[in-house]
Amino acid sequence: MKTNVSLKPYNSFGFDAVAKQFAEINEAHDLQNLIKSGALKSQNVLILSGGNNILFQNEVFDGLVVYINTKGIEILRECENEVMVRAQAGEDWPDFVRFCVGKGWHGVENLAHIPGKVGAAPVQNIGAYGMELKDSFEQCEAMDLATGETKVFTKEDCHFGYRESIFKSELKGRYVITSVDFLLKKDAPLHLEYGNIKAYLEQNGIENPTLQQLHDAICAIRDAKLPDVKQIGSAGSFFKNPVIEKAQFEALLKDYPTMPHYDEPNGMVKVPAGWLIEQAGWKGWRDEHVGVYDKQALVLVHYGGGKGHDIVELAHKIQDYVEKKFGIRISPEVNFV
Ligand code: EPU
Repeated sequence: MKTNVSLKPYNSFGFDAVAKQFAEINEAHDLQNLIKSGALKSQNVLILSGGNNILFQNEVFDGLVVYINTKGIEILRECENEVMVRAQAGEDWPDFVRFCVGKGWHGVENLAHIPGKVGAAPVQNIGAYGMELKDSFEQCEAMDLATGETKVFTKEDCHFGYRESIFKSELKGRYVITSVDFLLKKDAPLHLEYGNIKAYLEQNGIENPTLQQLHDAICAIRDAKLPDVKQIGSAGSFFKNPVIEKAQFEALLKDYPTMPHYDEPNGMVKVPAGWLIEQAGWKGWRDEHVGVYDKQALVLVHYGGGKGHDIVELAHKIQDYVEKKFGIRISPEVNFV
């Protein structure tokens, strides 16, 4: 256990918060020992993996940060058509996707290049280009922070939704995911119909892409739109895309006939928050330390030297502007600590 550790390398916004106590977990049993030692009782505890979806609002985290850094990928079973793979929570997500694509396994390719760790992926059911983690998720193992006991969560147990799971709601703070099992297919149709995948492939003269070509195309598309966190701090999409009533959508469409939208199963309509923010005039806005990314308005960025609080203030202003203009209150997908 270390004391007064800078969390700057551990959060993709790059804010220089300090953890009063910090423990790195390299094996699942290290975590069990830590729990059994009682160190997690009577203080704030933050479980940290990639730190890609977190905003440190304050300069000090007055408690214990538990950094999950367990590694390992293994094949649990394999047959002619599919393979079941287990990845430890601390494995890098983009590396895991690259590994699966390299083997010719289908199911996570559209989730290429999403920064983060495997253990965090189910927590918010990461998604991109028409695919979500839940589509290939089989089960995960998680450790109870109160007892150190492990429990298996099936897909049904996880209550997955759009950027949601039981680990973000009812069980928030109760469990740490230690490993995730994926059921991947050795052959499956590719999902090319979302976003600008098709346009990108056409521009690059690729007619029938292979799994690898699709993966590489998604990496290139993401690189063109989203900041490289090694250069500019960010947490990817800062807000969720709001889901509104059809009646409200139809009323808005009269004033904004080009508003992009996606129909939801329950008669609701999802509207891209990036579009709302751009229309509200915030795209590309910046001050010395923070701003709204100029290539994707859904991404708030930290140019360096700022504080988490600067992002909080900016987010509130954007929420207020968007609400005033469209009557829609957008909410963050990033976790505030
Ligand atoms: N748009 C604008 N202006 C902008 C940004 C977007 O008008 O500044 C419009 C686009 O033209 C498009 C629509 O909004 O019509 C949707 O934009 P985009 O395809 O870029 O996707 P998104 O809804 O903004 C979501 C995910 C991303 C994921 C992409 C691709 C959420 C909150 N975000 O973004 O996930 O990569 O789709 O599938 O659902 C993340 O969660 O960190 C993330 C990056």
